[in-house]
Amino acid sequence: MAFEPVREMKKLNYEELRIYSDAELKNYTEEELKSFKCKYEIPKLDELEKGPWPSFVSDAKQEALRRRKLSDDQILTHRDAVEDLLGQLELSFDEGETHWKHGGIVGVFGYGGGVIGRYSDLAEKYPSIAMFHTIRVNQPASKFYSTDFLKTICDMWEYRGSGLMNLHGSTGDLVLLGTTTEQLEPIFYELGHVLDTDIGGSGSNLRTPACCIGKARCEYACYDTQALCYELTNYYQDELHRPAFPYKFKFKFDGCPNGCVASIARSDMSFIGTWRDDIRIDQDAVKAYIAGDIVPNAGAHKGRDWGKFDIQKEVIDLCPSKCMSLEGDQLVIDNSECVRCMHCINTMPKALKPGVDTGISILLGAKAPILDGAQMATLMIPFMKAEAPYDNIKEFVEKVWEFWMEEGKNRERLGELMQRVTLPKFIETIGLPPAPQMVKAPRSNPYIFWKEEDVKGGWNRDINDYRSRHKR
Ligand code: HEM
Ligand code: HEM
Ligand code: SF4
Ligand code: SF4
Repeated sequence: MAFEPVREMKKLNYEELRIYSDAELKNYTEEELKSFKCKYEIPKLDELEKGPWPSFVSDAKQEALRRRKLSDDQILTHRDAVEDLLGQLELSFDEGETHWKHGGIVGVFGYGGGVIGRYSDLAEKYPSIAMFHTIRVNQPASKFYSTDFLKTICDMWEYRGSGLMNLHGSTGDLVLLGTTTEQLEPIFYELGHVLDTDIGGSGSNLRTPACCIGKARCEYACYDTQALCYELTNYYQDELHRPAFPYKFKFKFDGCPNGCVASIARSDMSFIGTWRDDIRIDQDAVKAYIAGDIVPNAGAHKGRDWGKFDIQKEVIDLCPSKCMSLEGDQLVIDNSECVRCMHCINTMPKALKPGVDTGISILLGAKAPILDGAQMATLMIPFMKAEAPYDNIKEFVEKVWEFWMEEGKNRERLGELMQRVTLPKFIETIGLPPAPQMVKAPRSNPYIFWKEEDVKGGWNRDINDYRSRHKR
């Protein structure tokens, strides 16, 4: 069964929910901002206001100034949090060392994760950041927002937190940077009851899933990444909020092999859209590319003169499986040899489209280096349909979890378990038949395990029987 919301999501109206007036939000002049001095000397950070890229130091100063000018009843946490943060950061720049204490365990009742506690190790010097906890807020799929939502969460965070955020954390969450322990429950209450929003994951659990922009704005999307991301996020809320796993576990959803959310590198279970029929070719558009009427790669290389588009050189000769050719002015693709790398489609998006029999590939085991080396994901399911209510996908997810939850060692990522028990054992346990697509090349060493039942006569042999034929 698909996740069915019991009611429509609330439509937020900022004008009804706002905490601050426009005047309070812009309670300083440009002059004041120019002459703003942080309460600590921060010469190194000041250097980072130079240059063309948006400066986090300038932004932080702007926020610090606004907080200085808000009245006492307009701010529930530490007014100086931003300035103390800049002060401690400057000190870390001087010493080349962090000044956050080790660890920190805080949270909200009912959940075992979602908040990353942290404490300054210089609490007397920088009292406003003595506690500076981070709250992960589960972002909407592909990070589409209304300004009503963003303004409301900003007001809430100005009131109850530092006013500083990270949009977004690498996993996907909207990150609220810096508040005190007392504020965690009130913030959680307001997220849930006012903003209709939950917190994200942290700890040994399912982390916040994330997806590429998918069908919302991309013609390459082979399934509805947002729908699947939303569905699995809701369906596995328990696994997300209450850690029950040997270690962390991440889902990411890419609509096609271009990998705009990098699922193959950054998720234990990577869902990548693909198709199994023929690439759709619009031969008139192919001609228009050849004639130079349409720019290749949708103009991505316009910044430099690469000469006239040459379909032979830029598409046909670059096809990794060499399965394309021109017959006259007709582009021909031997789809049985195509590996769906996306190159030709990326180059001529107006002429070529993925097929219509679309679905996903599922890959497992990506992780960062600790402990036994970085891994990208390994292909497990070459093709599966991805249609609501996604029961086939959930069934697979749960088989993988069942095995890993039982067999995984403490703090062992799925990718490491797969290495430890070996791929043949792993796929057998989760019920997948071995397929040639699962390997890039067959093994080169001969250390092959056989199952006893597959070997005639088994393992029980009598040396005397052997001796009857072979003298000592
Ligand atoms: C005096 C002659 C031979 C010597 C010194 C010799 C030596 C070795 C050595 C040192 C190994 C590696 C063992 C290991 O890695 O632990 C080996 C493996 C092997 N040898 Fe020989 N070998 C001889 C004759 C043969 C013959 C006649 C055959 C086949 C009829 C043969 C078939 C194999 C095979 C199949 C392996 C691989 C076994 C495995 O990987 O488990 N060897 N040999
Ligand atoms: C009938 C005669 C032999 C038998 C049954 C035999 C059996 C074995 C076995 C069972 C191993 C261990 C394989 C393992 O670790 O899994 C081994 C290793 C070895 N054998 Fe033999 N072997 C024989 C003759 C020889 C001869 C004649 C030589 C050398 C001239 C030799 C050199 C070695 C070496 C160097 C290893 C160690 C290889 C390694 O550890 O990588 N073996 N042999
Ligand atoms: S991964 Fe593919 S479908 Fe998703 S946004 Fe990128 S190009 Fe489009
Ligand atoms: S998608 Fe890649 S492999 Fe397939 S025809 Fe195009 S370039 Fe070749």
